[in-house]
Amino acid sequence: MRITLNVWRQKGPNSEGKFVKYERPEVSPDMSFLEMLDVLNEDLIKKGEVPVTFDHDCREGICGACGFMINGIAHGPDKGTTVCQLHMRSFKDGDELFLEPWRAKAFPLIKDLMVDRGAFDRIIASGGFISVPTGSTVDGNAIAVPKGDQERAMDAAACIGCGACVAACPNASAMLFTSAKAGHLNSLPQGQPERLTRVENMLLQHDKEIFGSCTLIGECSAVCPKGIPVDYIAMLNRDFIKATFVKRPPRTDADGGTG
Ligand code: SF4
Ligand code: FES
Repeated sequence: MRITLNVWRQKGPNSEGKFVKYERPEVSPDMSFLEMLDVLNEDLIKKGEVPVTFDHDCREGICGACGFMINGIAHGPDKGTTVCQLHMRSFKDGDELFLEPWRAKAFPLIKDLMVDRGAFDRIIASGGFISVPTGSTVDGNAIAVPKGDQERAMDAAACIGCGACVAACPNASAMLFTSAKAGHLNSLPQGQPERLTRVENMLLQHDKEIFGSCTLIGECSAVCPKGIPVDYIAMLNRDFIKATFVKRPPRTDADGGTG
């Protein structure tokens, strides 16, 4: 099949970018989207041109490294699919596609289709963990977890940190990501002691990174390859209200700094 690609090319964060057109006359419908870009890059290298930079790692939909916009849709047209799992059979012969990087101030562009998502790492570092007291590892089943809580935690833990939710949101908000990362820990008994501190710290970091506010438009959930629902944002907001208005005893050294 014949596909026309318009790829956003930009040498670096401070260079000017533009769409560059590439005709791809022999695309196999069985190729993944990234394989199609690999072949484009091989051809560009043969011609002595600079290949297109794009982020990827597992190519199995689990690591969250890949992602860009295809015709204005984060990860492309297939619902619940990362761009590495998207196949060319999802397009028609003669289609013209526009590929652009995630566009958000908090995700500065590195090159072409690749952005820096370090802001997500800093949100995780601010509270997306459970502090482990010293001592031997506890038995796996020592703490019974109700089935509903376990399922809510596992559904949230499906977030791969790809950033599509931010790219799709008109406010460039990272509330779906932040709520999923806080929500999986906050659903488990082990996450309760630090629950409100976690929510406060992660939201503070979210705002420091200049992600926008959530106005519940829902584009985030619509493009999320893992189908994370906006319910987790509601859970995060409820916890934030509790953290803000429910008086908690001041933190002491005896708390181990965990709040
Ligand atoms: S919530 Fe969904 S879209 Fe956002 S980072 Fe996680 S997996 Fe990606
Ligand atoms: S490369 Fe790992 S999710 Fe796409």
